[in-house]
Amino acid sequence: MSKWSRFDGSVQPRSFNRRDFLKVAGSAAILPAVLPAFGAQSSGASANNRINLGVIGMGWQGPGNTRSFLASEDCQVVAACDIDADHLKAAVKMINDNYGTEDCKGYHDYRELLARDDIDAVMIAVPDHWHEVVATEAARRKKDIYAEKPLAHTIAEQQSIVRAVEQNGIIWQMGSWQRSVPTFHKAAEIVRNGLIGTVTHVEVGLPGGNSDFDDVQKEALAKLAVQEENAASLEQVVPGTKAWDLLISDPPPQLDYETWIGPSKMEPYMRARSHKSWRWNYNTGCGELLDWIGHHCDIAHWGLGFDNSGPSEVEGSGDQPPANAVWNTAPKYRFELKYPQGITMTIAGGHPDIKSGVKWIGTEGWVWVDRGGFDASNPAWKQGKYLPRELRKVKLYTSANHQQNFVDCIRTRQSTVTPVEVGHHSAIPGHLCLISMHTGRKIHWDVKEEKIIGDAEASKLMTREYRGPWKMS
Ligand SMILES: NC(=O)c1ccc[n+]([C@@H]2O[C@H](COP(=O)([O-])OP(=O)(O)OC[C@H]3O[C@@H](n4cnc5c(N)ncnc54)[C@H](O)[C@@H]3O)[C@@H](O)[C@H]2O)c1
Repeated sequence: MSKWSRFDGSVQPRSFNRRDFLKVAGSAAILPAVLPAFGAQSSGASANNRINLGVIGMGWQGPGNTRSFLASEDCQVVAACDIDADHLKAAVKMINDNYGTEDCKGYHDYRELLARDDIDAVMIAVPDHWHEVVATEAARRKKDIYAEKPLAHTIAEQQSIVRAVEQNGIIWQMGSWQRSVPTFHKAAEIVRNGLIGTVTHVEVGLPGGNSDFDDVQKEALAKLAVQEENAASLEQVVPGTKAWDLLISDPPPQLDYETWIGPSKMEPYMRARSHKSWRWNYNTGCGELLDWIGHHCDIAHWGLGFDNSGPSEVEGSGDQPPANAVWNTAPKYRFELKYPQGITMTIAGGHPDIKSGVKWIGTEGWVWVDRGGFDASNPAWKQGKYLPRELRKVKLYTSANHQQNFVDCIRTRQSTVTPVEVGHHSAIPGHLCLISMHTGRKIHWDVKEEKIIGDAEASKLMTREYRGPWKMS
C-alpha cells in the first residue's frame, strides 16, 4: 500500500505512529515549529519524544548496559524485567533513582513488558540459552533490539533470530561493544587499508579456564571438603556421587528457577550453575569460547572484511571435562580455521603462545589489539586514537558509544555498527569450533548455505531440543 491512501476524493496521510514520530523528532530541524527539540527535557520530565526503552535481564551485564542508556538524553528506561526478584528490585530502584521518579515499572514476565505499545526498544541481557526465545518475541512485537553476544546458544537459534529481525525490519545492535572503541577501530582499519600487506594468518586469543565468578566454586569445594568429599574443581564433580548430591539445593526464594532454566533441559538447581556461572554448563552456556567469540572474532572479521563471510573448514580440540560434570565446558581449547583468500585463523584459549586479543599477520607487517593493548610492526601506527585521515582510504563505520549508536539508529533507521548479520557471522566460527571439538573431527562449512557439508551427525549439533512450552520460532 502506498504512503497515501484515497478516501472520499481527498488525499489522507497514513496513520502516523509512534515510530514515525520518533524518527521525525530525531530530525527536529525539519519540523522545528511542530516538535519539541530532540532530547531537550531534563530527566524526569514528560518523555514523549524520547525513545522508550525496556530492559530485560538485569544480572551482571544488564545493569551496565542500562547505566549507559540512563546517561542518554535521547531515551527513557520505562520498564525492567527479571525473574530474580532481588535483581528486579535493584534494577527498578536504580532506574527510578536516576530519574527521581517512580515511573519505571518492574516485570517478572518479559512477554508482558514486550506487549506494551509505548515501548519502542529493548535491551536484552538474559543468559545465552534464553536469547532466541526473548529476541524473536521482541522482534515480533516490532521492538528495536540491543542484545547481548553471542547471538544465540546454537547456529539454528541464531538463524531464527536473523530471520525474525529481517522479517520485522527492526534495528539491531549486538553487544559487541569493542567495535565502538577507537583502538579496535584503528587496528581493523590498518588491516582493511592493506597497511600490513596481504593477510595470511590471524590469531584470536580468548580466555582459558572457567572463571570462578563470585567465588561459587571456592564456596562449593569448601562445602564438599567439610564432608570429606575433596575435589580439585567442579569439572570433576559428576552425578551419582555424594559430592554432586551435596551441591544440589533448593533455588533461592527470589529466583523463579523453573523459568530460569527455560528452554533448556531441566536440571536440579546448583548455585555454581546459576547466575553468571551458567556459562560453564553446556545446557545454558558454551564456555569461554562462546563467551568471547562475539568480541575478538568479531574484531578479527571486521579487519578482514568478513562481516558476512566465514570459515570453510574448522578443526580442533579441547580439554573436555566429563559431559555431565557440574562445570563441563573446556577450560583449554585450540582450533585452526580456513577462510577465503587462503587466510588461516587460530582460535585458542589457555594456550600462552596465542596472546589474548586479535593479531593479524600480513606479508608486510602485523597488528595486535586487545582491551587496553595495541601493538604493531610499524611503531608509527601506535600514535593517535584513530588512523590518520590520509591512510583511511577504506573507512570503517565509526561509533564512539555503542549504546548511543543504537539509540541514534532507532531514529535514523540506519544500520548500527554491529547489526544482526554481523553478530551472526562473528559467532558462527565459535559454534563450529565446539561442534568440531564435540565430534572430534574437521567440520566443512558452506558459508553461503549456512550448512555443515557431508556430516549428518555434526549437523544435528547445529540445533538442540527445546523444553516445552518454549518453542524455537
Ligand atoms: N558485552 C559484554 O561485554 C558482556 C559481558 C557480560 C555478559 N554479557 C552477556 O550478557 C548476557 C547476560 O550475562 P550476565 O553475565 O549478565 O548473566 P547473569 O546471570 O549475571 O544475568 C542474567 C540475568 O537474566 C535474568 N534472566 C534469566 N532468564 C530470564 C528471563 N527469561 N526473563 C527475564 N530475566 C531473565 C537472570 O535472573 C539474571 O538476573 C549473556 O548473553 C552474556 O553473554 C555480555
